[in-house]
Amino acid sequence: MGIAESRSPPVHFSLSEISQAYRMGEEVVPVLKRVTFTVRRGETCALLGTSGSGKSTLLNIVGLLDRPDSGQYHFNDRNMLTADADELALIRNRQFGFVFQAFNLLPRLTALDNVALPLMYRGIGRRCARDAASEQLHRVGLADRAEHRPAELSGGQRQRVAIARALVGQPSVILADEPTGNLDTATADDIVTLLLALNQEHGVTLVVVTHDVALANRFSRKLEVRSGELYESLL
Ligand SMILES: Nc1ncnc2c1ncn2[C@@H]1O[C@H](COP(=O)(O)OP(=O)(O)O)[C@@H](O)[C@H]1O
Ligand SMILES: [Mg+2]
Repeated sequence: MGIAESRSPPVHFSLSEISQAYRMGEEVVPVLKRVTFTVRRGETCALLGTSGSGKSTLLNIVGLLDRPDSGQYHFNDRNMLTADADELALIRNRQFGFVFQAFNLLPRLTALDNVALPLMYRGIGRRCARDAASEQLHRVGLADRAEHRPAELSGGQRQRVAIARALVGQPSVILADEPTGNLDTATADDIVTLLLALNQEHGVTLVVVTHDVALANRFSRKLEVRSGELYESLL
């Protein structure tokens, strides 16, 4: 092993020749064509590409929400395409935190209960789940909004709650699908600052879909889906 290699963090996950197509009636529409890339622990990746290019499709495969038609996917050296449904669910729940453009918070629950919910689904008691949720809200700077419902929060605050919810299960990767798509420029910048701070402080690997080249430039890597292929971008 060379010096450069020995200094690199270990591989977190790797995709090799991943292909995915959707059937539209008679027609088969290829979306991803032999996509290959490796992400090391603690890397921050921006995923770029025009609308409909396949960014969400790729993110869903990485996050084990979808299985590709073909290719290889290893996560922590385990083969994800031969794992059974139970193992996939376990890895998905323990290793990944998901953040979406539309926040996807439950409107009737307070910020605290929204963040506690993933732990309650795991069978962790309410008290313990709420303590952990409180800690995460603190981490995203929203300790004083714990009892607010989503409608009583700004867009940026809602996305912070969603990030706290993604973090509460202590994932090793955060996958964020256009997390700043509903936010103004300044708030979008703050959300990216928060995600990068979480990466710096806790080493969580980031894969973040964005249309915004200025935001993308703040990440250590820029990947772009174009015509179904993935390019490492030097924008
Ligand atoms: N479940 C699906 N069934 C059929 N076509 C789909 C499905 N999901 C996505 N597509 C198509 O695949 C392409 C890529 O979609 P998507 O991954 O959502 O793109 P992006 O996130 O980059 O906007 C689009 O043409 C979209 O219409
Ligand atoms: Mg999308």
